[in-house]
Amino acid sequence: MVIIAPSILSADFARLGQEAEDVRRAGADWLHVDVMDGLFVPNISLGIPVLASLRKATDMFLDVHLMIDRPVRYAERFCDAGADMVTVHVEADTPENISAALAAVRAKGKRCGVVLKPGTPAEAALPWLAETDMVLVMTVEPGFGGQSFMADQLDKIRTLRAWIDERGLECRLEVDGGIDVRTAPLALSAGADVLVAGTAVFGQRDRAAAVAALRGE
Ligand code: DX5
Ligand code: ZN
Repeated sequence: MVIIAPSILSADFARLGQEAEDVRRAGADWLHVDVMDGLFVPNISLGIPVLASLRKATDMFLDVHLMIDRPVRYAERFCDAGADMVTVHVEADTPENISAALAAVRAKGKRCGVVLKPGTPAEAALPWLAETDMVLVMTVEPGFGGQSFMADQLDKIRTLRAWIDERGLECRLEVDGGIDVRTAPLALSAGADVLVAGTAVFGQRDRAAAVAALRGE
């Protein structure tokens, strides 16, 4: 089943609780929470206290995408603040520290995943493929919503889908960046099963129609 995960980066941050409830009622499955530190990416979004408030405001599954340098420093605290899943960029630290960050998330009983920037090859996910719940392929350079989908990432998605299936893994395959009604079918046919969408859901007046359209309904 395809999971639709609206990204709150495109939501009204002054009304985050209502925004979360609104997309839940619109039929979204997860809420994608983009955390940026102004160091790993050239933008700053939100952090631990905001996640903790959001946790109180909604029962939705919170998919926390850490775009931060050396995520091992904070992974546990994002779990304590209410994340259901924490994903970390493989480019953000040494392999040892990425493994430590994933282990910290698992030790908290939460799901974990690794993220690949557009310039990072599929092979970079291999060391963790068997021990993560998800691989996230960025289809824009991380940092900002509203960018155009990078179709050259489709081969990477196909490769990862093949590896996941060959190994019989439960691992989900998420895409993030520039997903809309035109690009969602491309990502899905390449093998993605979780679609992040900021502008294509929060930027729409009729969010139920937007979520249904992404599902291809
Ligand atoms: C970008 C973020 C994305 C972003 C997606 O760094 O990771 O989640 O919010 O926004 P859209 O769907 O507008 O490209
Ligand atoms: Zn994201």
